[in-house]
Amino acid sequence: MNDMSAPVGGNILNLEPYWLPYTANRAFKNDPRIIESAQGFYYRTRDGRTVLDSFSGLWSTGLGHCHPKIVKAVQDQVARLDYAAAFQVGHTGAFELAEKVTDFAPDGFDHVFFTNSGSEAVDTALKIALGWHRVRGDGTRIKLIGRERGYHGVNFGGMSVGGIPGNRKMFGNAMLPNVDHLPHTLDLEHNAFNRGQPGWGLHLADELERIVALHNAENIAAVIVEPVAGSAGVLVPPKGYLERLREICTRHGILLIFDEVITAFQRIGTPFGCQRFGVMPDIITTAKGITNGVIPMGAVLVSDAIYQSFMSGPEHAIEFFHGYTYSGHPVAAAAGLAALDSYVEEDIGSRVAELEPLFEDAIHALRDAPHVIDIRNFGLMGAIEMAPRPGAPGARGMEAHVKCFEQGLMVRHSMDTLAFSPFLTFTPELLEQTFGTVRKVLGTID
Ligand SMILES: Cc1ncc(COP(=O)(O)O)c(C=O)c1O
Repeated sequence: MNDMSAPVGGNILNLEPYWLPYTANRAFKNDPRIIESAQGFYYRTRDGRTVLDSFSGLWSTGLGHCHPKIVKAVQDQVARLDYAAAFQVGHTGAFELAEKVTDFAPDGFDHVFFTNSGSEAVDTALKIALGWHRVRGDGTRIKLIGRERGYHGVNFGGMSVGGIPGNRKMFGNAMLPNVDHLPHTLDLEHNAFNRGQPGWGLHLADELERIVALHNAENIAAVIVEPVAGSAGVLVPPKGYLERLREICTRHGILLIFDEVITAFQRIGTPFGCQRFGVMPDIITTAKGITNGVIPMGAVLVSDAIYQSFMSGPEHAIEFFHGYTYSGHPVAAAAGLAALDSYVEEDIGSRVAELEPLFEDAIHALRDAPHVIDIRNFGLMGAIEMAPRPGAPGARGMEAHVKCFEQGLMVRHSMDTLAFSPFLTFTPELLEQTFGTVRKVLGTID
């Protein structure tokens, strides 16, 4: 057992009071992995080891840890304006960031609502969708359609439209009513070891027609999907699938929401993922990369038409009864402005385009490694799926995570799938180091 509760020559850390999120708390507290600092591509642990981060934080910190421009912007901002009331007044940074985010976004996305996380962005987007139909006199449209294995955060709306069984099981009947789900698109029989978008699976988009026929279009408000599903282990949309969803939604007057909490800000090589696919949704949710993960922030982008529909009624009246104390927080806005400038100044789009084929080759080279049953990739998102250990699903993934950490590599696992989200400025050598370590570790687990 590591004893990371004690740093080299320092105080003992009391591990008990902190209830860690999405973590096996008892196992963790018996064998803690504690990070003390970070710089660039690396974490430094409490016991003084250097760990290469293969996951850019949590899909969040693509420009690298402690990016100097963002650190400086945050330091300056917190000393100038730490907080400004978010309701009925505004501050400069929020307006500037809104303009910059809409400049990044595809044409037609002219307005942004700020939140503090991806989960809040999703619930905000679902409320905008319901509200939009209502202000247009279409108040029967209240059904929300998600997708199996989708992840849309942990609040009640996102959890309900989400489709990862483990996230729902404990909360059963408390889920929102009026929700249905599309099937997911992963089928190892047809798609295993596919590079990029699979050629099989387009017909699964037509399941939306079946759902529409069942519930009636005039009862359905919105469909929400991740363009590339991340948390379920990188599920890449089949060729033509997103286009087909778009076409069906348009035909039936249903709003299409792309949850781009992961796929925005160059993760798949374009400012927003929808630009890579050339498929435009009606609403986009995002978070993570908007501030390079430095200060919590989420955002919902809507078309001018959606925004303008809300701008009715008496001028003194609030048009959308929704908001957070920290919507557009000044320090988050400063981090966001610095991050967005850095994506441009560092020509991150071109670097991702160069790195993507190298990443694809490096991850697929593990095809013959022990336990591996599938490898998937798109942009700088990738996953290696292992067969579950008989009778102990998730155990191999957990063991691989812990052993990689011991070998100086941070990997993310979800059950028995290892996911990778390298820095947008990673190098071929570090890709080699990442997958070399993973191969070595897979060879040591049964
Ligand atoms: C697609 C998607 N939506 C929503 C969320 C939730 O974001 P947060 O953890 O910031 O609430 C995530 C988080 O990974 C995500 O990947």
